[in-house]
Amino acid sequence: MKLKEKVAIVTGGSGGIGEAICERLAQEGAKVVVNYRSHPDEAKETKEKVEKAGGEGYIVKADLSKVDEINNLVEESINQFGKVDILVNNAGLEKRADFWDITEDDYDLVLNVNLKAVFFATQVVVKHLKQTNRQGRIINISSVHEELPFPHFTSYCASKGGVKMIMRNLAVELGPLGITINNVAPGAIATPINQDLLDNPEQLKKVTQNIPLGRLGEPEDVSGIVAFLASDEAKYITGSTFYVDGGLLWNYSEQ
Ligand code: BGC
Repeated sequence: MKLKEKVAIVTGGSGGIGEAICERLAQEGAKVVVNYRSHPDEAKETKEKVEKAGGEGYIVKADLSKVDEINNLVEESINQFGKVDILVNNAGLEKRADFWDITEDDYDLVLNVNLKAVFFATQVVVKHLKQTNRQGRIINISSVHEELPFPHFTSYCASKGGVKMIMRNLAVELGPLGITINNVAPGAIATPINQDLLDNPEQLKKVTQNIPLGRLGEPEDVSGIVAFLASDEAKYITGSTFYVDGGLLWNYSEQ
């Protein structure tokens, strides 16, 4: 078990990729704080999976678009488990719209959850690690769209591009503290964020044809590398993005 005695916070742990990450970290022996905003029953299911995997779980509700709720999430986690070692900034959302129709409310929501929350959750965890003089791990669940354009999702791309630069900047700034930070960048994964796509066979076929490995990913395709990056084996890895996309990002063909 790679993560025995470690405490991890996973934001957005009630479903999709976050749920799989909670379970995977628990399999490695971690104590896992499952954060959710609006799906309490699903958060409970994740906690049960964590416990079944042999770990300890704890649920904290927090709306990550609010910095005081982020601070409370970290404080409650420390109260429960005594410390935090690993932060997985997983929570994220997207809003589809033509550029000229994007509303300020939708822009704010996407940027607040996907970018501002990564910034401030990382900040409060880093303060805790500094105060307790310990090293730690920050892992951001980014997207292929930290690099690749995604027409009609400009706010989402802006947020993920921002997460890329937060990660690179902090790799430099936090390195001397022994804190590593990396991005895991999924492509098209079969999760609720892609429900519209999953419900549209024609569109799904088009997307799948564009993926060299010929299928959408599963949450479990993403969670393994998160457990690795959180472990001691990854102690010399910081400042990198790891794509988990079936080859989607670099796919180009003229046939
Ligand atoms: C988005 C999905 C999209 C995938 C591949 C993800 O970041 O959330 O909606 O299908 O990237 O384009």
